Amino acid sequence: MTQQFTITRLGHQGDGIADGPVYAPRTLPGEVVSGTLTGQVLTDIRVETPSEDRVKAPCRHYKACGGCQLQHASDAFVADWKLEIVRNALAAQGLDAQMRPIHTSPEQSRRRATVAVRRTKKGTLAGFHGRASDTITEIPDCRLLDPELIAAIPVAEALAVLGGSRKGILAVTLTLSEGGLDVAVKGGKPLDGPLELALAQATEKHGLARLSWDDEVIAMRQAPLQRFGTAEVTPPPGAFLQATKDGEQALLQAVSEATQGAKRVVDLFAGSGTFSLPLAQTAEVHAVEGESAMVQALDQGWRKAHGLKRVTTEARDLFRRPLMPDELKAFDAIVLDPPRAGAEAQVEELAKAKRPVIAYVSCNPVSFARDAKILFNAGYTLEWVQVVDQFRWSSHTELAARFVLNAAS
Ligand SMILES: C[S@@+](CC[C@H](N)C(=O)[O-])C[C@H]1O[C@@H](n2cnc3c(N)ncnc32)[C@H](O)[C@@H]1O
Repeated sequence: MTQQFTITRLGHQGDGIADGPVYAPRTLPGEVVSGTLTGQVLTDIRVETPSEDRVKAPCRHYKACGGCQLQHASDAFVADWKLEIVRNALAAQGLDAQMRPIHTSPEQSRRRATVAVRRTKKGTLAGFHGRASDTITEIPDCRLLDPELIAAIPVAEALAVLGGSRKGILAVTLTLSEGGLDVAVKGGKPLDGPLELALAQATEKHGLARLSWDDEVIAMRQAPLQRFGTAEVTPPPGAFLQATKDGEQALLQAVSEATQGAKRVVDLFAGSGTFSLPLAQTAEVHAVEGESAMVQALDQGWRKAHGLKRVTTEARDLFRRPLMPDELKAFDAIVLDPPRAGAEAQVEELAKAKRPVIAYVSCNPVSFARDAKILFNAGYTLEWVQVVDQFRWSSHTELAARFVLNAAS
């Protein structure tokens, strides 16, 4: 039976929500929609009254592909929605802040993507997972990825022919680097001698910088360097990297501004040195990160670079063993960029340490707002928030923020 609903808001996954709640994917607030209700989800949706914010999706794959969720909305709508998500998360903690205009990465600027590849009777199928399904959608005209990444999809297919199992789906992470294409594969056949040889030959044939199979480096023709400021780093296979260079620059700009003038900075959840190494142009930096391979990569990058101030490194689980106030007192600015869970244990210690300035980079407004409240209660002002959208057309929201300790605290 067809039923009609009016969409009142968007959920955190970008789905339209009507009273009920009823979830209607790819609809917008204010729209009257009809469809068949299956549980709480509306299917076979027809938009009866479109929103003024509705646009024709720029990508021809949007209908089938699950890679983007918000191409049916105007850029202005998405920008406002993302700012609102952060405002609402802060308001739920009784906080507000000056929100700077959003920075959105351009189309076709994603420098890393994981494509799914399946072997088929005829050969292979590679692309992104379809909408709410495990089908794979081919994406030759994707508007998100850097064209060099799209051009590399045949390499992912060739690797699936060599080492994909008949039933499984290969996850092939393609990353652009200064040395060429850095490829990390998961979910393939277990390595044995013949497969290793075939993969090493494929690395040569396709001119890859590096090929890794389940985190094991098979071959490295060129170091897959990433440039962080003036330093060059070879991150371990599959290591975290900001999704676009443009987004990385916007976050770095915010972090640099937030910590300007600091002489000694601690960079917590430092990764391979995205912020630590550029900051070392003007400050001594102590970089702390949980993955020891990333810590090593950061350290080597610093040792090879010229003209940077001292960078020390530490591999440490900051959830279990956060830096304590007596360790934090050596620093006049703190940078932290935790995973989605946030950094509650570490922020509790920051609240006690009361260092003058904190630059907090977050990929989850909810855990950010929870941690911001801890800092607020300890006497910090949340001075500004810069939302950075490097996952355009998705429901992800990232931000950088500056906290300053109030004079009386
Ligand atoms: C969002 S990434 C940021 C990395 C880096 N700041 C960058 O911009 O490239 C979060 C980092 O936290 C690290 N991490 C995750 N859990 C951790 C933990 N419990 N202790 C320390 N580091 C952790 C991850 O390995 C990852 O490098």
